[in-house]
Amino acid sequence: MAEVLIQNGRVVDPSQNLDGQADIYIKDGVIQAVEPEISVSCGNIIDATGLVVLPGLVDMHVHLRDPGLTYKEDIFTGCDAAAAGGVTSVACMPNTNPVTDSPETLTYIRTKAATAHAKVYPVASITAGMKGEALNDFTALKQAGAIAVSDDGRPVENGRRMMEGMQKAYHAGLPVISHCEDLSIIRGGIINEGEISKKLGVPGMHRASEDSVTAREIALAHATGTRIHIAHVSTEGSAALVRDAKARGVQVTCETCPHYFMLTEEELLRRDADYRMNPPLRTEADRKAMLAAVLDGTVDCIVTDHAPHALEEKADFLKAPNGVVGLETSLAASLTSLYHTGLVSLSRLVELMSTNPARILGLNAGTLRPGAPGDVAIVDLNLTWTVEPEKLHSKSHNTVFKGKTFTGKAVATLLDGKLVYHYQG
Ligand code: DOR
Ligand code: ZN
Repeated sequence: MAEVLIQNGRVVDPSQNLDGQADIYIKDGVIQAVEPEISVSCGNIIDATGLVVLPGLVDMHVHLRDPGLTYKEDIFTGCDAAAAGGVTSVACMPNTNPVTDSPETLTYIRTKAATAHAKVYPVASITAGMKGEALNDFTALKQAGAIAVSDDGRPVENGRRMMEGMQKAYHAGLPVISHCEDLSIIRGGIINEGEISKKLGVPGMHRASEDSVTAREIALAHATGTRIHIAHVSTEGSAALVRDAKARGVQVTCETCPHYFMLTEEELLRRDADYRMNPPLRTEADRKAMLAAVLDGTVDCIVTDHAPHALEEKADFLKAPNGVVGLETSLAASLTSLYHTGLVSLSRLVELMSTNPARILGLNAGTLRPGAPGDVAIVDLNLTWTVEPEKLHSKSHNTVFKGKTFTGKAVATLLDGKLVYHYQG
């Protein structure tokens, strides 16, 4: 299948200010033309009548668990889940085993990912073994294929070390992504600290943990003239800090996940560990604040923080590890809660889920311009479906959206012009 013609779809691509009916011709994996009507003789036609055609989504916060934790997920299953969600590029976090802190591990990931159904861009750790001590050799890691650095899953606790890390990464030309958490404030908490944690009698994670480190990272980026990307923002306070920092010209960007603008800590009343993640679901005021931050441009990207954990691990509400899967539901959840409610245009949604993350990470993705890779998501905006965890492509089923009915779904996903996912109903 060296060529493909996608006909009669509504193409939405904010990178070229495009929202209208067009055909797309892809040859040898590369987009050749996007025109109102393309007449070429092509043996491979996809009829996208009634569907929308988007640049493949870019999820810049994913845990693929490979190497080392492949009972939860591996590169192939994680990428299958991505393809089923219209996601063609993922940035994978370094809390693997071993930690992604060496050229060897980066090479392992990139080699295995070469035949997977999504493009995998590894994030290397900031510190050796994610121990928060020695800084890695960012230039060597970049050469081996790292596209950003982060100790995600943990904060870099020492402020001086983070400051030096940000400067070193800046000189190496790598973005820094920060997981904002103060472990001394968290003290073993497992859900948001507040009414619900009290009611359940479980230790809480105080919002000041997230907010104080977000403030620190902004101060460090400002002081050093470097840039910082704040991961999984969940609180009203952190969103306000990012908004204010942007207004002051600090080079800060941030992301949030669908669960933070759709759900609240009330879900935890079920005592089901599938609703536990870090940072945790917060209050209704936070949910509303995150939604407002998505709407006013404070939030740059919608990501999943796709964090698969095995059924046995999630069985015990108190002891289960934090994290939820999300690759297969992020587009549907966002279409349902942001687009079908009239809050966000399709074009803005594509910015949040494709254009912006590609720009922040400097990836050759997030656009359908001629010359770009043929990474495409074909979406039925009106397809209604219910999330059945056991039907997900991921090895793990820890989704907060189990049983939820969404409107909108990727029905076909192309990677370099090749069909990697086709909705079967
Ligand atoms: O919920 C989370 N799970 N948050 C993190 O920061 C790490 C992630 C994981 O690796 O499971
Ligand atoms: Zn994190």
